[in-house]
Amino acid sequence: MLAHPLLCLQDDGITVAKTLQTFLTGKGLGWDEHDGRLFCGAAAFFHNGYRTNLVQNWLPTLDGVMDKLKSGINVADIGCGYGHSTIIMAKAFPNSHLFGFDYHQESIDEARTIAAEEGVADRVHFEVATAKNFPDNRYSLICYLDCLHDMGDPVGAARHAKRVLSGDGSIMLVEPYAGDHVQDNINPVGRLYYAASITLCCAHS
Ligand SMILES: C[S@@+](CC[C@H](N)C(=O)[O-])C[C@H]1O[C@@H](n2cnc3c(N)ncnc32)[C@H](O)[C@@H]1O
Repeated sequence: MLAHPLLCLQDDGITVAKTLQTFLTGKGLGWDEHDGRLFCGAAAFFHNGYRTNLVQNWLPTLDGVMDKLKSGINVADIGCGYGHSTIIMAKAFPNSHLFGFDYHQESIDEARTIAAEEGVADRVHFEVATAKNFPDNRYSLICYLDCLHDMGDPVGAARHAKRVLSGDGSIMLVEPYAGDHVQDNINPVGRLYYAASITLCCAHS
């Protein structure tokens, strides 16, 4: 007798079967429940954009933040995954102290390893924490890089950020730039993001 095709997929370690179940049951699927290849794949996917934009183009759009980063401030990078963005900022701003938080233990373990390999472990601290319970270190900058949309309670996350932000602190939100109308997103990038959104982001949030 042939095995059920969905079971074959699951036995292969592929999360297609789990994903189909989320559509059938509406129960959702946590980021941490996916195949391990998602975590390194997502990290590699976003890394290129951070390498070419984070310090060069995105941080300079925030009033006065570049000067503060150069002098030395506490920065929190929420939903940091493998911590590429955190490490890029640590390298660019050696006087600042970077805190990377993610609820996913494996990603935090990997982030610590990469920070050590990149020689910035002295000024980068990675810790398992959610967007609503990461510790208060009076941050002057809190970043959400491609992750606020993943969170089930983005308003609760923003409230917590406000509580732990220093008086004149800033919040940087980076999200995929989609068109407001479906027809504006019918292109290879739009297809990729729609697919990722329904299988990963919506299922997780
Ligand atoms: C699309 S990935 C982006 C990861 C990273 N910022 C990057 O660009 O490589 C979303 C990340 O958000 C994390 N995440 C999702 N919900 C979270 C929550 N409530 N609190 C903390 N991290 C969360 C996931 O574990 C995952 O690492």
